[in-house]
Amino acid sequence: MPAATASPPHESVPENFDAYQAQACSNPRATEQAIGELIAARLSRRHALQGLLAGVAAGALGSGLGARDAEAAGPSSLGFAELPLGLDETHHVAAGYEAQILIRWGDPVIAGAPGFDPASLSAAAQEKQFGYNCDYIGFHPLPAGSRGGDHGLLVVNHEYVNSNLMFAGLGSGRNAALQTNLPQVEVELAAHGISVIEIRKSGGRWALVEGSRYARRITGTTPMTISGPAAGHTKLKTSADPTGTKVLGMLNNCAGGMTPWGTVLTCEENFNGYFGGNTASLSDAKLYERYGIDNTPWYSWPKHIDRFNVDKEPNEPNRFGWVVEFDPYDPDSVPVKRTALGRFKHEGATYALAPDGRVVLYQGDDERGDYVYKFVTARAYDPNNRAANANLLDEGTLYVAQFAADGSVKWLPLKHGEGPLTAENGFASQADVLINTRGAADAVKATPMDRPEDVETNPVTGRVYVMLTNNTSRKPEQVDRANPRASNAHGHVIEIVPPVKDGKLDHAATEAKWEIFLLAGKPGIDAGARYHRLTSENGWLSCPDNCAFDSKGRLWIATDGAPVAAGIADGVWAADTSGYGRGLSKHFFQAPTGAEVCGPCFTPDDQTLFLAIQHPGEDPGSTFEKPSTRWPDFKADTPPRPSVIAITKTGGGAIGT
Ligand code: FEO
Ligand code: CA
Ligand code: CA
Ligand code: CA
Repeated sequence: MPAATASPPHESVPENFDAYQAQACSNPRATEQAIGELIAARLSRRHALQGLLAGVAAGALGSGLGARDAEAAGPSSLGFAELPLGLDETHHVAAGYEAQILIRWGDPVIAGAPGFDPASLSAAAQEKQFGYNCDYIGFHPLPAGSRGGDHGLLVVNHEYVNSNLMFAGLGSGRNAALQTNLPQVEVELAAHGISVIEIRKSGGRWALVEGSRYARRITGTTPMTISGPAAGHTKLKTSADPTGTKVLGMLNNCAGGMTPWGTVLTCEENFNGYFGGNTASLSDAKLYERYGIDNTPWYSWPKHIDRFNVDKEPNEPNRFGWVVEFDPYDPDSVPVKRTALGRFKHEGATYALAPDGRVVLYQGDDERGDYVYKFVTARAYDPNNRAANANLLDEGTLYVAQFAADGSVKWLPLKHGEGPLTAENGFASQADVLINTRGAADAVKATPMDRPEDVETNPVTGRVYVMLTNNTSRKPEQVDRANPRASNAHGHVIEIVPPVKDGKLDHAATEAKWEIFLLAGKPGIDAGARYHRLTSENGWLSCPDNCAFDSKGRLWIATDGAPVAAGIADGVWAADTSGYGRGLSKHFFQAPTGAEVCGPCFTPDDQTLFLAIQHPGEDPGSTFEKPSTRWPDFKADTPPRPSVIAITKTGGGAIGT
């Protein structure tokens, strides 16, 4: 993503765009041989793993075709004609598919919400309207518990705001976000959080159900509770909340997930940017430093609202950086910050079930050199008693991943009293471990990764895929087998294979196997880029971020950080994960300029793919008055609007067939 002037705080902004481009295009081949050896070394083990999984993963060849048939049909099971790479003001989807704009920033969500008026935004209106910068999308079918694909609740995160594109007169880039006044900050707070909308498909078109009883906005000021081992800890107490158990709002909710009992997990990511103050003088200055909280806030909030000023409320930042659970089927449900899942810059949370019914949540901490985590509940999930699962996420074990060069991964427990997690090292309780999850993971020597974004499980094979978006800070001496490229501008995807127990993959096990699924970048140009040998000139990608699986187990990757200087937009690429087309990515969707693509989400019937188009127009020099695009309305005086789109196949049918 662009660039030095880009508006606030997106983690994927390269620190120096020119250097990024130079490096991305300079064809350094120094590490090619090492990567080749790595791939070769993995190959034999991969075949062993596939053999191991043969009994577990029905349909290991994806399409179920015999070898001769598959060769005749081409190696990929994905039947669409690839979209050419490109970059312009609007979106594009592969031929034979249609993209419908479902809901835009400012569209009414709550009954009685005013229409969008970009010339006069107000917090009161924004609290009832669709928020800004949509990211995670979850589809919860209606009726609850059904598997239908044409009626449901859509749950959409609103990660952050581009002040320069929301308000007139602020100029461009990061500086704009530091110029907002209090009424504008209140709009910004209201534009964060989440929207719940009810939608229905009829005649091939999706529409909002007006007046839905489920419609909801949660914002940066919605009252919520804090639960789990850190609730009530001294470090969570503020003057407004001496109990340390109640907090106003959630911030920077990036990706997310759902639970087997149908609640939403929405994940706070770059919360640090909203806070400012002289943290270096605090007694636990290291904690603030580890989370990036200092006197350089990304927004003007600390200037206008005391709780974001760490000099006045030093503990308020400790109440952010959590996973928040709420029930989308109950619009009055109080969201809960689940501290047992750890505090970091959460990308998302994806569940898998262990053979004994315990719930496993995979999570990434999206920062250069941070970690991959999983949480395993203490108790099993009860599919027959929803209420019994209400507080399941308050008890369990948080683990962090340590990837070894031999292709094994160890899940290291972050438990108070075990190993270095003792009072002498600053961890006097499990609450201390969780509030400073990053420090605890440092102490047990987790593997620093190239910015872990989404982690998703394949519904067919049970394998786990980790999107590592990029890490231009990795130095040659910091390269390891799981992060094999220095100054990694394009990212890679790791595949984790849990062991088999009682004929099922055991996601709760403390060991697993891993290998690299693909190394992004342009083959032949970017050092070490590796895909299927038949990947086309349009099929390579850069900066994998969010992802989703269709029900055939094919991986759909959304990107954030395409090489725009080369005329390539972010978009969506799909690839088989098994069979002859394994790793053969194909270009399916292109975003409008400035945007990343988030939230890929299929309906259970695979007939709709929802995408969140985040920060359209976030280009260098882009302003409210003169944005780089006015997508999707293309009306004079209307700024670009982050929106959710619904992609369907023309005439109906499953996407990608
Ligand atoms: Fe908000 Fe890691 O992307
Ligand atoms: Ca995002
Ligand atoms: Ca992301
Ligand atoms: Ca990203």
